[in-house]
Amino acid sequence: LQRLEYRGYDSAVAPPSTRAAKNMCGIVAYCGNAQAADILVAGLQRLEYRGYDSAGVAIIQKSEDSGGKQESKRQKSAAPKADGAEAKIKICKQAGKVANLAKACENSDVKGTLGIAHTRWATHGPPTDRNSHPHVSCDGKIAVVHNGIVENFAALKTKLEGLGYKMASDTDTELIAHLIYDVRKKKAMPLEEAVRQALTQVHGAFGLGVVCADEPDILIGARRGSPLILGIGDDEYVLASDASAVIERTRRVTYLNDGDMVVITRGAGYQIKSLDGVKLIREVQELEMSLQEIQKGEFKHFMLKEICEQPEVLENCMRGRLNHDTGDINLGGLTPYLQRIIAAPRIIICACGTSWHAALTGEYMIENLAKIPVEVEYASEFRYRNPVLYKSDVVVAVSQSGETADTLAAISLAKKHGCLTVGICNTVGSTIARETDCGVYLHAGPEIGVASTKAFTAQICVMCMIALKLLKEKGDDSTADFKKKLKALAALPDKVRKVLEEKEKVLNMSRVFRYASNFLYLGRGFNFPVALEGALKLKEISYIHAEGYPAAEMKHGPIALIDQFMPVVVIAPCNDPNAEKLQSNIEEVLARGGSVIAISDETKNEDLERKCEYVVHVPNTEEFLMPLLTVIPLQLMSYYIADMRQCNVDQPRNLAKSVTVE
Ligand code: G6P
Repeated sequence: LQRLEYRGYDSAVAPPSTRAAKNMCGIVAYCGNAQAADILVAGLQRLEYRGYDSAGVAIIQKSEDSGGKQESKRQKSAAPKADGAEAKIKICKQAGKVANLAKACENSDVKGTLGIAHTRWATHGPPTDRNSHPHVSCDGKIAVVHNGIVENFAALKTKLEGLGYKMASDTDTELIAHLIYDVRKKKAMPLEEAVRQALTQVHGAFGLGVVCADEPDILIGARRGSPLILGIGDDEYVLASDASAVIERTRRVTYLNDGDMVVITRGAGYQIKSLDGVKLIREVQELEMSLQEIQKGEFKHFMLKEICEQPEVLENCMRGRLNHDTGDINLGGLTPYLQRIIAAPRIIICACGTSWHAALTGEYMIENLAKIPVEVEYASEFRYRNPVLYKSDVVVAVSQSGETADTLAAISLAKKHGCLTVGICNTVGSTIARETDCGVYLHAGPEIGVASTKAFTAQICVMCMIALKLLKEKGDDSTADFKKKLKALAALPDKVRKVLEEKEKVLNMSRVFRYASNFLYLGRGFNFPVALEGALKLKEISYIHAEGYPAAEMKHGPIALIDQFMPVVVIAPCNDPNAEKLQSNIEEVLARGGSVIAISDETKNEDLERKCEYVVHVPNTEEFLMPLLTVIPLQLMSYYIADMRQCNVDQPRNLAKSVTVE
């Protein structure tokens, strides 16, 4: 077994029951006058991009709520002996997608107007019915949904087992239910106080929803590290991990801060308090999001919709910010800090995944245009590698969701060192947006497809504007060249529209290559991050192995992989300063029997057409803006190949949109 351990070591290393459940997950909770199950399931469907391993609801059912139907196999009454109590908790939970839960709820009898729900993304503790949330206390009277991780899982579990509690799942969440029960039982205290006291024993991150059959008109939410937003409707409240699960009921919301707890009492409104019990006032805001933005409309998948939205996304991102006639760029959030930024010895950009690729493009842009040194860091490495940081450094976080745990931790570290922190986020009111000193929103609208597309182009667009703004602030904007650059940026949405007209060609090309098992993506200069992003998109959604490389690095390794089965995507615009070098790279691939797909500009080049199996043309633009065009065919190709391979494009296996645990 030791020799074979490389083939799998899940049960030999530690049985699942001894390991903590980490989850990113989505939470939604409701208190109002409508049937909670319908609202909760609809909310979970909106949050499903956060995790789709299992889903469940817990509804408080008062005697007047219960109908006459028999309980189904899946649906258990968590408090079989109601010992005289009027209410009990009904639970319905299922491994798999929210659609499974929706069916189970339809066939069961979960009636009631107050409840909590959860969709899970599991890394530990298999995605089974028993590990699905909600989890209940031993008497079945307290139910909990949780997004985050209990870091002192092992110690708490030993303690609780020592006290005689029996675990019904492998999850860390269940411990929270037992802890609340334990505190409450010992001191006979109200749920609110019991939750508060129980949480003092929990180390780690949580976004939490709690209900209790003994206090059937109370819904409690709390957060530390994981996001929670409270929607305030007419006589009803929706608590959720993000706004998309709230918008169908109300546009009025309050974003809970880290360390906040909200207590909603039917008929008596809500109160936000700190985890120490101090009353707090939080601003109520109007959501800008529209329902249409979170619906697929005529598109087969959200991802395709989001790819096609990119022209408008770029327009929205630049709206009111860019004026190429006057040469003005207005980035309101950054204005008071611009002098500090241009005086900084360096800018460090931290991000993860696709956002990291956008950050890399940002490095090329800021160094090329504004001539300020930039370093790009994987947030997960940066936070732990003890980096040298000076007060004068500027640390930028790039994050679509604004909730990525590692990126958030990178910002906390930078703040500890007194650096100026800047957020480039899409989600308004997200934690990173609030924790940073200043920032720029993408205004890309909600991105639902797990594989990021429109947020990536919007991030690059923001990077362009920042680079140009810094250049201007340094006083280098007097040349005609500066206005030309602004004009080129403003012209991009129409150019993206033109690239999207190539859809059919990309579709045909995808048909040819859909069975390949490896892809190589090559690019140079501004298009090197695009090569990385193209490869990431393909592997994320089609599960085809793909690697992105700087074209010149091919000789140092990947060239060994090239044969007739290896499609090589080369981003090779003909009016690129590196065009000749890229042509040589193409020759090297062809000499080894590889097939080349070239992404080029409109410059005529018969030689390229002759040699490459496919050439996709994008309009000509300034060199630094090319990534915004060359990435579009790569997004489309990944989409079509994944769809042809019948992969779940919007919810690729094992991934989640918002990675709120490290
Ligand atoms: C996950 C998502 C990616 C995303 C990355 C960073 O891995 O699947 O699409 O790029 O997180 O997320 P952020 O919200 O910080 O941009």
